[in-house]
Amino acid sequence: MNPLPAILFSDNWNVYQKIIANNYMLHKEFSHYTREALANAVHSIKSVLDLGCGDAQLIAKDLASIGIEAYTGYDLSEAALAQAAHFLQVLPAQKKLNLGRMEQLLQSSNENWDLIYSSYAIHHLSDEGKREIMQDIYNHLHPNGLFLMIDVMRKKGQSRVAYMEYYIGGIRNNWPGLEIREQDMIANHIHEYDFPAIDEDLIDWATSIGFSVQKAPVQDDRHQMLIMQKG
Ligand SMILES: C[S@@+](CC[C@H](N)C(=O)[O-])C[C@H]1O[C@@H](n2cnc3c(N)ncnc32)[C@H](O)[C@@H]1O
Repeated sequence: MNPLPAILFSDNWNVYQKIIANNYMLHKEFSHYTREALANAVHSIKSVLDLGCGDAQLIAKDLASIGIEAYTGYDLSEAALAQAAHFLQVLPAQKKLNLGRMEQLLQSSNENWDLIYSSYAIHHLSDEGKREIMQDIYNHLHPNGLFLMIDVMRKKGQSRVAYMEYYIGGIRNNWPGLEIREQDMIANHIHEYDFPAIDEDLIDWATSIGFSVQKAPVQDDRHQMLIMQKG
């Protein structure tokens, strides 16, 4: 692998670990609601697809308690998948890690899953890309299958520019555990790569596809989790 993306990944990865350790993006609450959704699933969950799995560190722990048979992770970073292979060692299941764009890998797959999970990855797609991947997720779930989507979202009427000002202002004021240069790095990443959808739009798209949708009850206006069940 070209060393530059690997270095960029490890820089970002260290900052992301600090964000998780400080719970700035509510990973703790979402892990709680993930475990609750897994425990309340209509059918037991044996197969899992993780879209934009990153290092899979948190989902590996959430899944370890329910005894799954197969885990598949998609990510476009080779370095992330190498980390995922390490953290998934706690999971006694068959594992597959596929390198590439999750939307393309999913579209060309002929497998179906009991749970499709995605944490902080779908906001990188355009709104059209988000609608398409939600339809593909629906098509690749078993009956009554679950789709758990954790992500950054905008409020109704909030433009992307207004969102970015609000989100980056929040980082500057409320994320003291990051150094200024680390805050700058996240701000640059947000400007370049983040296209969060409006939460109500995501719920409307999911409902029109056929999902029943619930929102995890967190008191936060940027970080959200949608719990969707295939009808
Ligand atoms: C913020 S990290 C989240 C990682 C992990 N899901 C978590 O919550 O800790 C976003 C991940 O999505 C991956 N990603 C972004 N766009 C992607 C795409 N189109 N296809 C596959 N992976 C993607 C990135 O490489 C990165 O590993």
